[in-house]
Amino acid sequence: MVINENVKRKIIPIAGGKGGVGKTLIAANLATELARNGKDTIVIDLDLGGSNLHTCLGMKNTGMGIGNFLSSREVMFQDLIQPTPYKNLRFIAGDVLVSGLANIQFSQKKRLLRNILKLEADYILLDLGSGSNFNAIDFFLISNSGFLVTTAQTTSVLNAYGFLKNLAFRFLIRAFNKHEEISKYLRKVIKERKPGSFVTIAEVVKKLRAIDLENGKKAKKYMSILKPKLIINMAESPDDLLVIEKLRDLIQSSLVLDVECMGLIYSDDAVTKSLSNHQPFTVREGESIAAKDIERIALKIVQSGRFPDMPLDLNYYKDTFELTQIEAKNDYEEITSLSKSEDEINIGDLLSIISTQKKQINELKGTLRMLTMNRP
Ligand SMILES: Nc1ncnc2c1ncn2[C@@H]1O[C@H](COP(=O)(O)OP(=O)(O)OP(=O)(O)O)[C@@H](O)[C@H]1O
Ligand SMILES: [Mg+2]
Repeated sequence: MVINENVKRKIIPIAGGKGGVGKTLIAANLATELARNGKDTIVIDLDLGGSNLHTCLGMKNTGMGIGNFLSSREVMFQDLIQPTPYKNLRFIAGDVLVSGLANIQFSQKKRLLRNILKLEADYILLDLGSGSNFNAIDFFLISNSGFLVTTAQTTSVLNAYGFLKNLAFRFLIRAFNKHEEISKYLRKVIKERKPGSFVTIAEVVKKLRAIDLENGKKAKKYMSILKPKLIINMAESPDDLLVIEKLRDLIQSSLVLDVECMGLIYSDDAVTKSLSNHQPFTVREGESIAAKDIERIALKIVQSGRFPDMPLDLNYYKDTFELTQIEAKNDYEEITSLSKSEDEINIGDLLSIISTQKKQINELKGTLRMLTMNRP
């Protein structure tokens, strides 16, 4: 696992427990923004079985992709890298040309991860498939600080929690794979998992302490290496953050994980408009709220000297959630003032229509009068 704060090249997997929450759009647009900030960026489509990142970048899927690499030993990973229409941004396609690779073998996954780790760039973004399956979790665990996308909707929030829960267990199993008794215990906990009677990581840490105090401490330390970040997408109002703060509290108490918030992206018509024009919305609709939200997230990454550590001004807010709350409120004011001015234009239009009609009626009245006056 790459510990991002210790290396120059940052790897950022983008996942989401639920399908359709905006992972691919965020990967494509965040990548174009990082590139626009002068950073050498590579974005990779790792949604095997559902690759569509090329469409969000406005590219045709004609070059070789991961599917070709996995199905032929002759294809070199370096040969998959394609230029994009955007300066500083390169792209690796998924498995659209050679499909049927949704369930890759462990050895294929390892080969893939090994090659991704050899890539040179400032930022490497990975667009992952939905769900909490082993593929998504293992790709997410390539580095310690991937992004988890969720909307404020209950199913999406629950799936985000489920994703992190599976992630935490898989990470601990890996960390203790040489410790027979602990591995056995962890596997048993996972196997016996029943809905409603879930053993939390907090309880696991307690149990590990009971087995051996040192290992209990180690487990807690391992968990502190993981620094996943949340992104809230398709928000309707700043209040959407309230449910995400509850999620944060649950993650903290049950999974012993400290999550931070990268930002909130509003639901915006500009997104769908630019999709139908086959261009990233940060390029096509650069002035839209959604584009500004992505721009802000990109700046947080770029301005963090030791990403994932955030450059925070704690004199003004207490943490990344409060900062996001302030940003979301400012955006919301802009959105509502924009719609207000649209209303004003409509009333203005209406007034001018009424005055034109009044004029026409007066003219008509005049004509009628003249007609009746001239009647013999
Ligand atoms: N901020 C937004 N504003 C408006 N619409 C959005 C926004 N984000 C995403 N969408 C809509 O959601 C759809 C799904 O987005 P996207 O394909 O990025 O999701 P995904 O999580 O990658 O899905 P999958 O799980 O299928 O890979 C988009 O086609 C777009 O219509
Ligand atoms: Mg996707």
